[in-house]
This record gives sequence, C-alpha cells and structure tokens, in this order.
Amino acid sequence: MSKIFVDACLGKETPYTPVWMMRQAGRYLPEYMAVRAEAGNFLNLCHDPKKACEVTLQPVDIVGVDAAILFSDILVIPDEMGMDLEFIKGFGPKFNDPIKSQDDLDRLRGGKDASDRLTYVYDTIKLIRKELDQRDDNKALIGFCGAPWTLATYMIEGQGTKTYNISKKMMYSNPELLHNILAKVTEVVKYYMEKQIESGIDVVQIFDSWASAIEPSKYNEFSWKYMVEIADYLKSKYPDTPIIMFPKGVPAFLDQVYGNFDVFGVDWSTPMALAKEKLGDRYVLQGNMEPCRLYSKEATTECVEALAEIMKDGRHIFNLGHGILPDVPVENAKHFVSECHRVSKR
Ligand code: CP3
Repeated sequence: MSKIFVDACLGKETPYTPVWMMRQAGRYLPEYMAVRAEAGNFLNLCHDPKKACEVTLQPVDIVGVDAAILFSDILVIPDEMGMDLEFIKGFGPKFNDPIKSQDDLDRLRGGKDASDRLTYVYDTIKLIRKELDQRDDNKALIGFCGAPWTLATYMIEGQGTKTYNISKKMMYSNPELLHNILAKVTEVVKYYMEKQIESGIDVVQIFDSWASAIEPSKYNEFSWKYMVEIADYLKSKYPDTPIIMFPKGVPAFLDQVYGNFDVFGVDWSTPMALAKEKLGDRYVLQGNMEPCRLYSKEATTECVEALAEIMKDGRHIFNLGHGILPDVPVENAKHFVSECHRVSKR
C-alpha cells in the first residue's frame, strides 16, 4: 500500500495533507514519561529496542500523526565514534572529552567501525517496521540523523552552546581540523542512514538544528555541502527513499539550498510564502507552525488555516517549525493534527 506521507514527500496527490511533529515522541506525553521511568533514563530508553519502539508509536496512536519518527537521538553517532555521552537532567547532553586537536579526532572510530555499533537503532527500526506492517493504518516511518555541522558543534563544544564560540574559533582559525571532523562524521552518517533504510525506514530527515549559527557566505562550505554529500550517496543507492532536509533558521540562505532531495523543512522563522516563492517549484515544503502556538487552540487553528491558504496550490506537509515543548497539553497537539486534516481534505 502506498503511504500518504511517502506520496506527499514525492509530490504526489494525496487525499489530505499529512502531518507530523518534530520531537513528537517526548515529555508532553504522560505515556512517554511512564516508559522513560521504567527505562531509568533517556539513553537507556534509546538502547532498548522494545521500549524505543513503544514510544515511537505513541504519538501515532495517541495524537494521530501520519508518520512515526524513530525514537533515538542525533548524538548516538558521536557516542559510538567513541565520545562519552551523558544526558544530565535539567542541563542536556554532555561530552566530557570534546575534540580539541587532530589527535583527539584520530582516536575516534570512523566509517563502518562506528555505524556498525548502532545495532540497537537498527533493531528498533525492524521492530517498528513489523508493528506498522501488521496494521492497516497507512502510517510511515521516518529515520533521521543530525547534519555533520550540528553534530560537530556538540563534539567540539562538549555541550549545547549559545555562542558556538569554540566551534567558530576553529572555523576561522583552523578550518582544516573542522573539515576533517565534518568529513569523518559524514562518512559515519552515510553508512548509518544506509543501514536505517535497509532496516525499514520509509523516509530520511537530516536535522541541521544549528544551521543559523553560520554566516550565509560560509554555510555551504561548513554545512550544506556535507548534507548534500549524504543525500547524493543515499539517492545513488536508494533513489525511491524520500529525503527531507531541515536546516533551522535560514531565511537568508534560501537561494543556496539546492541538491538532490525531495522535501525542504521550513523552520518557523522563515515565512512559508517566502519559502514557497524561492523553493516551492523544486521541493515539497514541510512546516512550519511556531511550536508555541500549540499553547492555544485558537492560535493553532489560525496558523493552520493560513498555511493551508498559502500552500493551496503547492506541495506541502504540515509540521511545526521546530520541536514540540514538554509542557504542551496533549489535547492541543491532537487539535493541531485534526485541524491540519480538516483544512486540507480534498
Ligand atoms: O520524536 C522525535 O522527534 C524523535 C526523537 C528525537 C529526539 N531527539 C529525542 C529526544 C529526535 C529526532 C531528536 C533529535 C535531536 N536531538 C536534535 C535535532 C532536532 C532538534 O530538536 O533541533 C538535537 C539538537 C538533539 C540533541 C538533544 N537531545 C538535546 C539538545 C536534548 C536536550 C534537550 C531536551 O529537550 O531535553 C536531547 C534530549 C532528547 N532527545 C529528549 C528527547 C525526547 C529529551 C530527553 C528526555 O528528557 O526524555
């Protein structure tokens, strides 16, 4: 059965415009909190295929989204390259051994040595695939990875950052080392995503959450070209698997984000009409409601109706313009999904 979400990614006609939400499996769902408590912590949950499968399917069953997204994290890649990942409550991810030199980089695993270690992710995908195939609810499975730049910022800074000053110091004073890091991460991610596809995902999304930290004239060199390299590699092997590119915060870059992919994820700071004008002829557009509108049903309906109007003669997938926040009422997330379906019924 061809899936509505996959068809929409490929620009085909669908009975309505499908919808999913970034970070849809997460803390706003009491059912997620219960499974996470059983697992003990977030990383244990990522490492447990049965539980990861369970939380992947929760938003499909509870909120009614048209696609599940694999439950994992972008940072499992540097973790399996050999960096020591911790998630600290109330603080976020932390690596205690950030990369400072070529020697530090050389000590990390690369290519298949790293990607072959992510067996728990591949096992999770196989379980989800089996579950979805036993249903007849037409839901797709999205696999994902972080863009090399976004991953590199964590590997260099050791944690989240407001200024990116350590990564950018490297960008301007030792670009060769930064490129070596990006190239090594790119190799791992290529094999990782290939294995995700072979394990059963329907669609790939590449998250460049920290795209906006780079000045426009340097964006291609330090981020976009590596994302395109990953997309080209996957398209050469799996031409039928749709690829979604999501560089966050890039209204100024829309003239330089071309490549061999299917869907462009529009973040909430970019007007959808502008994205449509610049990219709508080439790509399906995904997005882009401001996630905080989910606090109000009225604000949600207003935005969904406006997006439907802008995209009425375009190719579109509904989503938020970034991740859902932990204190959003579940009822409001359900309202978002049903409003997207209501306004787009054909
Ligand atoms: O539902 C989904 O979208 C699938 C799962 C998913 C998670 N992380 C689970 C998660 C996905 C796709 C990600 C991607 C991710 N992880 C990104 C890119 C997307 C984005 O939001 O920009 C980034 C930058 C990360 C790194 C990361 N992971 C941070 C900064 C944090 C801490 C912030 C926070 O929200 O606590 C995480 C933890 C994380 N990843 C959680 C979840 C559900 C929260 C962990 C918990 O407390 O249960």
